[in-house]
Amino acid sequence: MAKQEQNVFQEIVSHCKKLGFVYQSSEIYGGLSAVYDYGPYGVLLKNNIKQYWWKSMVQMHENIVGIDAAIFMEPTVWKASGHVDAFNDPLVDNKDSKKRYRADHLIEEYIESKIQKKIDKDVAKAAKRFGDSFNKEEYLATDKRTLDRQAKIDAILSRMNNSLNTGDLKDIDALIAELEIACSVSGTKNWTEVRQFNLMFSTQGGGATSDDVLYLRPETAQGIFVNFLNVLNTSRQKIPFGIAQIGKAFRNEIVARQFIFRMREFEQMEMQFFVRPGEQKQFYEQWKEARMKWHLALGTPADKLRYHDHEALAHYADMALDIEFEYPFGFRELEGVHSRTDFDLSSHEEHSGKKLQYFDPELKESYTPYVVETSVGCDRMFLSVLSQAYQIDEAPDSKGKMQQRVVLRLHPAIAPIKCAVLPLVKKDEALTNKAREIFNKIKYSFECQYDEKDSVGKRYRRQDELGTPYCITIDDQTLEDNTVTLRERDSMEQERVAVEAVERIVQQKVDMRVLLQQL
Ligand code: GAP
Repeated sequence: MAKQEQNVFQEIVSHCKKLGFVYQSSEIYGGLSAVYDYGPYGVLLKNNIKQYWWKSMVQMHENIVGIDAAIFMEPTVWKASGHVDAFNDPLVDNKDSKKRYRADHLIEEYIESKIQKKIDKDVAKAAKRFGDSFNKEEYLATDKRTLDRQAKIDAILSRMNNSLNTGDLKDIDALIAELEIACSVSGTKNWTEVRQFNLMFSTQGGGATSDDVLYLRPETAQGIFVNFLNVLNTSRQKIPFGIAQIGKAFRNEIVARQFIFRMREFEQMEMQFFVRPGEQKQFYEQWKEARMKWHLALGTPADKLRYHDHEALAHYADMALDIEFEYPFGFRELEGVHSRTDFDLSSHEEHSGKKLQYFDPELKESYTPYVVETSVGCDRMFLSVLSQAYQIDEAPDSKGKMQQRVVLRLHPAIAPIKCAVLPLVKKDEALTNKAREIFNKIKYSFECQYDEKDSVGKRYRRQDELGTPYCITIDDQTLEDNTVTLRERDSMEQERVAVEAVERIVQQKVDMRVLLQQL
């Protein structure tokens, strides 16, 4: 990560702690690596993100229903899903620093820093030289040096993916040696052999499965597959239809860095869409578009999001892509869209002995449905909206002098607090009484905050830092004509509005419908 990007990222992490969005888990005991707690504003923002997702899936689609399955499942589930045998990451240790790495990440970072960066630099130079007439695609397809570099990237990735797919990790050992990859801590190339590491956490079960290992689910999707028949029999759905779920998942990530991007306990928002075999491509394309639209509706600029097709497919998929977001540390996976074939239902049918088929009344035949899945991490979503929203601009202080201000330009519909109610001065009881009266009236409609401490300028700054879209200020004029000042966060513009109108004005802007109507 470049120094400037590192600084921005560190500022966002500090902001989360300082304002009460995210804390390190068990911090008073020194913290637990890659586990985080959400504070008073974090939980509100996270709940709003979840609500936006849930409404967009369940409320907006007649043919999608929700469930909330348990975290613990009968252990055979994880045998059937392939997680016991194949949910592994390749790990490698540096013998000198004792630091552990994901071998595939080491190779990808090498490509990024040693080859891709050079391509990007040449592209930027050429763009400068040719000005408006520059055609990036043409340049990438014809420039000899760029083509050679791209060929080198393709060759490395092909070897790595082949190695991961076959499970023969010797070629990854060879790649690390050939590329002369060194440990960033010790600086040496003294590596152990690469080996597979299963990511599932396990514990001992009670009751019927007391002899068995119980796993903490590494994805919520299996709770949907094993309930396929239950939902089908109780919800009057016909194929195509979907089942949506939000819930915790657990993975013993080898390298847990980058704050809430890669956690050991996290939350997923997953939807499995059951379709006729052969129709998966059409629905895969449909959900790919729909999910991008969902992200863009939040106001995220289009150039901050991109699709990335998977080169190496998971054991269950026939098509897969990521929607990537440009975090302060670069483009990374935010969401996955996967065509999972009939792998999961067929495998559960085989392991459970229960028929998991659908009788299609139109075709008059039974079949195992195919599945298109959308899966977005709630915490990654949280980090993406915060990274996008965190901005520094200028605002006048009480003497009119411009000062730096930190502002979270969150979409109003997901902002933790929608409106702050501020009496101009604390000492004037008539003002504080009036402010309380307004607060007590509008708090039924949306999340509000009453604040009378410090100067009004300082209180505006604090609300900007929290991402509160509106502040209402109660002053002497309020007592005379029953109007208040309504201040908008981004423009900092203030207008005088009647007390009776204020609730409606704010409600219109912060309503989740504003988002849903764009989908
Ligand atoms: N059911 C499919 C599935 O679990 P995945 O690509 O492994 O697919 C889906 O995970 C999403 O879950 C990712 O796109 C990411 O947003 C989130 N996710 C995965 N591992 C995570 C972790 N360790 N910490 C935070 N989020 C994670």
